[in-house]
Amino acid sequence: MRTMIEPFRIRSVEPIRLTSAGEREEILQRAGFNPFLIDAEDVLIDLLTDSGTGAMSSEQWAGIMRADESYAGAASFRRFERTLQELTGFRHVLPTHQGRASERILFELIGGPGKVVPNNAHFDTTRANIEHSGAEAVDLPVAEARCPSVLHPFKGNMDIEALRHLIRTIGPARIPAVMVTVTNNSAGGQPVSLENLRAVRAVCDEYGLPLMLDACRFAENAWFIRTREPGQRDRPIRAIVREMFDLADGATISAKKDGLVNIGGVLLLRDDALFGRAGNLLILTEGYLTYGGVSGRDLEAMAQGFREVVEEDYLAYRIRSVEYLGEQLMRSGIGIVQPPGGHAIYLDAARFCPHIPASRFPGQAVVCGLYRTAGIRAVEIGSLMFGGEGRPDPPLELVRLAIPRRVYTQSHMDYVAEACAELHRRASGLRGLRIVEAPSVLRHFTARFAEIVPADTDRSDRTVADVLARPPQAVSTAG
Ligand code: F0G
Repeated sequence: MRTMIEPFRIRSVEPIRLTSAGEREEILQRAGFNPFLIDAEDVLIDLLTDSGTGAMSSEQWAGIMRADESYAGAASFRRFERTLQELTGFRHVLPTHQGRASERILFELIGGPGKVVPNNAHFDTTRANIEHSGAEAVDLPVAEARCPSVLHPFKGNMDIEALRHLIRTIGPARIPAVMVTVTNNSAGGQPVSLENLRAVRAVCDEYGLPLMLDACRFAENAWFIRTREPGQRDRPIRAIVREMFDLADGATISAKKDGLVNIGGVLLLRDDALFGRAGNLLILTEGYLTYGGVSGRDLEAMAQGFREVVEEDYLAYRIRSVEYLGEQLMRSGIGIVQPPGGHAIYLDAARFCPHIPASRFPGQAVVCGLYRTAGIRAVEIGSLMFGGEGRPDPPLELVRLAIPRRVYTQSHMDYVAEACAELHRRASGLRGLRIVEAPSVLRHFTARFAEIVPADTDRSDRTVADVLARPPQAVSTAG
């Protein structure tokens, strides 16, 4: 059989609404050209994130009905704890309300001024939590990660030589932990090989440093290891997952990804003393040790989700459905980060609209174009997300089409591919943007923009609104 079907039946549906082009224009302008500020019911296909947007299974919903909501020692917590212990081999399991809560606790304990935390590439909340503690977050991706068109099976890998160089330069005492993000979200949802993880572990052992995983998408990473890494093909997914976690001293996990739930997170730690201190912080701001800021029903849903995500039929479908979208885009001549990632397709926005410089956010221009064309919501991962406040522009200007788990069908993906192809044909008409207002941290969530008149028709940085308000002659006589 050539077609890989969705390995589930759909028994509950939620209508989605197609808006007119005129409505979308008005909605986009009202949202200050930032799709984070658009209401979800005005979006047709929502590819903003794969986080917390998945569909739960009938078994997860059954768990929700069965849940024990006791404050301490609930049966739902024990099921959650046992599931994670069996899956990861970690004895100490703390529930949190989402990934960034685990990060906040971890870096409050091990971060601080003068410290440096290397990673293959930090996700934005991880970086923000490290910086919030006063420490510095450093990305050490392999060189291949910087080139979207280069084919490499494990573009998520960490640059081992760069890691050694960093440790030798600043000294191990300033590094509280080395972190590896699986899969590497910021570099295109690309996987990290077992070989690379083992090499990072060896460097950590050499210098006596702990290794922490940011393991939000551990199951997708394990699938890539099995299908791409020599010698892994015949191993069960669970065995690969276990080896990944065995290499680490701790892990922060957002269960909103491979936990297949709408809310929830995990903090895993091997060290007894660190676990004790983390537990105290958990009680301080999240909740007691056996619920950590979520309800018993959330713990049940996570326990079941973490079991389902390592099922091989599910993972085969998951990875194939993302790859299917990537193949269609490439056939239309659209540049994407290759090969397709585990949870998302990343459009190469610099190639999509070469006429828009990084300072004018080419990725955001594509994001606005996708919403205008087809009601699709995507997210910029480039100068807007990572730049600003004296930071250097990131090496890539990307637009992420993140695919929620078990939500959209193949025909939804066909529609997305057609919309991208249509926008690509008209890409020369896309306009850059400038920020009108933005907060100082994590600015991409709430910044508002104005569109800039294309440089070839107007050399000043006037916005479209300026031009409409004042005819060009008035501007030239005044100037
Ligand atoms: N680490 C990675 C690699 C992530 O992708 C995310 C979230 C987090 C940590 C934080 O987890 O949201 O549960 O607090 N990523 C989402 C995304 C938001 O859209 O990629 P959280």
